[in-house]
Amino acid sequence: MSQPIRFYHRNAIREVSDASTTRTVLQYLREDARCTGTKEGCAEGDCGACTVVIGEPDAAGGVAFKAVNACIQFLPTLDGRALFTVEDLRQPDGSLHPVQQALVDCHGSQCGFCTPGFVMSMWALYEKHGHATTPAAHCAHKSVPSREEISNALTGNLCRCTGYRPIVDAAEQMFDAPAPLAPLDVAALARTLAGITRDDTFHYEHAGRRFDAPRTVEVLARLKAERPATRILAGSTDVGLWVTKQMRDLGDIVYVGQIEELQRCETTRDWIEIGAGVTVERAYAELAKQYPELTEMWQRFASLPIRNAGTLGGNIANGSPIGDSMPGLIALGARVVLHGADGEREMPLEDLYLAYQKKDMAEHEFVTGLKVPTRSGAREKLQFRTYKLSKRFDSDISAVCAAFAFIADGETIREPRIAFGGMAATPRRAAKAEAVLDGAPWHEATAQAAMLALGNDYAPLTDMRASSTYRLDTAKSLLYRFWLETRAHDPLPKHALDVRAIQLVEVQ
Ligand SMILES: Cc1cc2nc3c(=O)[nH]c(=O)nc-3n(C[C@H](O)[C@H](O)[C@H](O)COP(=O)(O)OP(=O)(O)OC[C@H]3O[C@@H](n4cnc5c(N)ncnc54)[C@H](O)[C@@H]3O)c2cc1C
Ligand code: FES
Ligand code: FES
Repeated sequence: MSQPIRFYHRNAIREVSDASTTRTVLQYLREDARCTGTKEGCAEGDCGACTVVIGEPDAAGGVAFKAVNACIQFLPTLDGRALFTVEDLRQPDGSLHPVQQALVDCHGSQCGFCTPGFVMSMWALYEKHGHATTPAAHCAHKSVPSREEISNALTGNLCRCTGYRPIVDAAEQMFDAPAPLAPLDVAALARTLAGITRDDTFHYEHAGRRFDAPRTVEVLARLKAERPATRILAGSTDVGLWVTKQMRDLGDIVYVGQIEELQRCETTRDWIEIGAGVTVERAYAELAKQYPELTEMWQRFASLPIRNAGTLGGNIANGSPIGDSMPGLIALGARVVLHGADGEREMPLEDLYLAYQKKDMAEHEFVTGLKVPTRSGAREKLQFRTYKLSKRFDSDISAVCAAFAFIADGETIREPRIAFGGMAATPRRAAKAEAVLDGAPWHEATAQAAMLALGNDYAPLTDMRASSTYRLDTAKSLLYRFWLETRAHDPLPKHALDVRAIQLVEVQ
């Protein structure tokens, strides 16, 4: 029997039974709850006008707050969670929250259309840095974010009026302001959410469509075996757009965001294991501990609200030829773990991709996780880089995405692995260039021979993001850059090439 969607919003538990399974949180807010503070700009996760904050129980018994884009999140995914919007920030006496006051004081708002979205991204940062339950306890924040962290938190919010400096100033200033009159009582919220957390699968139906949110992999496997065509939904940052932009009917949905086993991140001696439901933000944080070379890719993957919702499993399962995670993971030798009616199986990640939008994954199968080798043993000598070329530095899809890795055995190249996105119909290794590198000395002539071989590995397309010639030429240039950055003698310092500065010069 269908259960109502139960969530915390505006100081009360709400129950919704009459919304379609793909009604967005934004539609609910503006059209049903009449909370019109949250705006719609693009309806595709790009502009941030619709940013809201979701609170969900965390492993420590508290609440984790995440800024996400309400325009591409479906309402039933709120079940068991808390929803906060700009309407929640007004204080009991009608005064502004310190986040809002700082924006006023720093002249961070003009037409105001983007402002509620900025306010919510800033509020999520404010809560992250200082959870206090009383004004007295609020006098000291746990920590104050750097300007870089602030910029990172605001990558998903676009403003056409003010420019970003006053907004970033406001985000710094909000931490100096006196505490809000009524700080959020996180402990009380955690108790409230515990009261609406389900032990078993959440099952919701509307207009002949089912939405199931199982709590175990076993139940997910059973549901997929019974109804293989059921669409798996994770962070909704790809699937959401199929509804808001392509008006597709998704049919029945099974949501994996409530399955604890899929949220696991664990590092053993040999593997970093990441569950398919782990968000892109958390997955990269985990991977960057051993592979700091992934940090730039992490920061340039979409925006924080997209990374807060989107999962690594979704990126891999979608397997877009221009997805950002696959080249780096393939170069690192990652393996993908699938689960289906016949149990579990795993394979090298590159083997998952057979042709454009065609994967070695049966309809009843799903991704449970990813295994990335640790940087141990011979891999301590791994040379590894990833590069992303896109028209905008932040929040843009790649034209070309490259990853290079090899084990440096003195000057000799061992186990070279090169993978590209944007160069073929799938994320793909460069077998011919790898063959040139294997066992050769890491000299400039070797790098140049491998660059030439890339021309035999790939015949990229021309599309709106880049021409075929641009793609092939820049792929070669990126391989040369890898050589410059990792050559044994006189290597370039890691940050010698300031890509942001180069792109700015190109734009001028
Ligand atoms: C504004 C914006 C910017 C973006 N920028 C980038 C970017 O810079 N780089 C980039 O690579 N991507 C980008 N994306 C795409 C998207 O964010 C990623 O592909 C993301 O990782 C998808 O994960 P998800 O959890 O949201 O997947 P969903 O949208 O929930 O699902 C995506 C697909 O994977 C399937 N799926 C999900 N989980 C599983 C599973 N466990 N097993 C089997 N199938 C599964 C779904 O059925 C669906 O087919 C962007 C998207 C938006 C909206
Ligand atoms: S309306 Fe633009 S991100 Fe949601
Ligand atoms: S204040 Fe007008 S878009 Fe930001």
